Amino acid sequence: MIFVTGGAGFIGSNFVLDWLAGSDEPVLNFDKLTYAGNLNNLASLKDDARHVFVRGDICDGEQVLALLREHRPRAIVHFAAESHVDRSIHGPAEFINTNINGTFALLEAARAYWTALPDAEKEAFRFLHVSTDEVYGTLGATDPAFTETTAFAPNSPYSASKAASDHLVRSYHHTYGFPTLTTNCSNNYGPYHFPEKLIPLIIANAQAGKPLPIYGDGQQIRDWLYVSDHCAAIRRVLADGRLGETYNVGGWNEMANLDVVHTLCDILDSLKPKATGSYRDQITYVKDRPGHDRRYAIDARKLERELGWKPAETFETGIRKTVQWYLDNAAWVADVQSGAYAKWVETNYFNRDSSQAEAS
Ligand code: NAD
Ligand code: DAU
Repeated sequence: MIFVTGGAGFIGSNFVLDWLAGSDEPVLNFDKLTYAGNLNNLASLKDDARHVFVRGDICDGEQVLALLREHRPRAIVHFAAESHVDRSIHGPAEFINTNINGTFALLEAARAYWTALPDAEKEAFRFLHVSTDEVYGTLGATDPAFTETTAFAPNSPYSASKAASDHLVRSYHHTYGFPTLTTNCSNNYGPYHFPEKLIPLIIANAQAGKPLPIYGDGQQIRDWLYVSDHCAAIRRVLADGRLGETYNVGGWNEMANLDVVHTLCDILDSLKPKATGSYRDQITYVKDRPGHDRRYAIDARKLERELGWKPAETFETGIRKTVQWYLDNAAWVADVQSGAYAKWVETNYFNRDSSQAEAS
């Protein structure tokens, strides 16, 4: 079996669903179920014996080691993290705890398990660390895209904590020969994306008649990748990636935030028209994110050259599917927006009114 951390979150749950759709190899899904973890994402696996869910914290190395010894996975795929940049600005401590200390505790447990394996299992074992393009910092308008050799220059507490975890993973390979693989991916979108992030937030706010908040001038650029393409990339790297290597994953799809929001409004205008006007009328410029990275772009040629991976979805096909999924799954959105979600919205958007916007 494989051991997945954070498999109840956005990408992790898509990965578990994709994995079990294409393989009968069981998954042990280890997740703390923070605000971002949601077992409803995995409801279709409720009676599926191939999916074993255990609630726990990656910071608890003893629990992880006991589970590894009990279930004897051949690989660990490590998604668990605090993942939202804005939350890391309001409260960085949990990012240091989970992303750095948690990855360290997980590595120590995994190394202890791996060291004691018989030779053949030891040889076959893999630890795949799922990371982000944000570790490379920000690009100017004409800079070349990030490659695997671009120097790290993280700019937010989130990206700094992910960079630290990447360094720890690298060091475990270099020092102990621990069989690591790292992926650094660009912005994902698709089903089960928590509506604190730009794309699902815009889809939810648009339908609720709420403002569509654009930070600063809306010209920040992200490189969007449909989540199932990220999952496919992880499967390729896990199967055939070279040990100790990092692989960039991206969609070759750079877009300014404002263009993304316009696209979402236009799709909603056609799929669920308002009584009068366009969803674009709800766009509101608000105060920028502190330290906001201007542009990310991923050069994914290494992954293509070595492992033959390419994204299957274009932005046009992926974003349509995504909007349709949110329209079809209003109950999922309502559920995740209950409870602590309202408090987060107040924390993040209070004091960001349009009078403080830098451009409009
Ligand atoms: P997410 O916030 O949706 O999910 C994170 C999951 O980790 C949740 O299920 C949560 O309960 C779990 N978790 C958090 N702390 C934990 C802990 N201490 N122990 C066990 N489980 C814990 O995140 P996501 O967007 O699915 O991202 C998954 C991974 O991919 C992260 O490592 C992130 O840095 C990376 N990544 C995300 C993107 C993106 O666009 N979302 C892009 C590149 C890389
Ligand atoms: O690049 C990969 C990263 O992408 C991942 O490592 C992170 O986990 C993931 O959250 C994402 O980070 P971003 O900060 O790029 O994603 P987010 O959806 O929060 O924001 C996307 C862009 O939209 C960013 O430039 C900020 C802007 N934005 C965001 C929100 C929530 C707005 O303009 N308004 C908003 O309300």
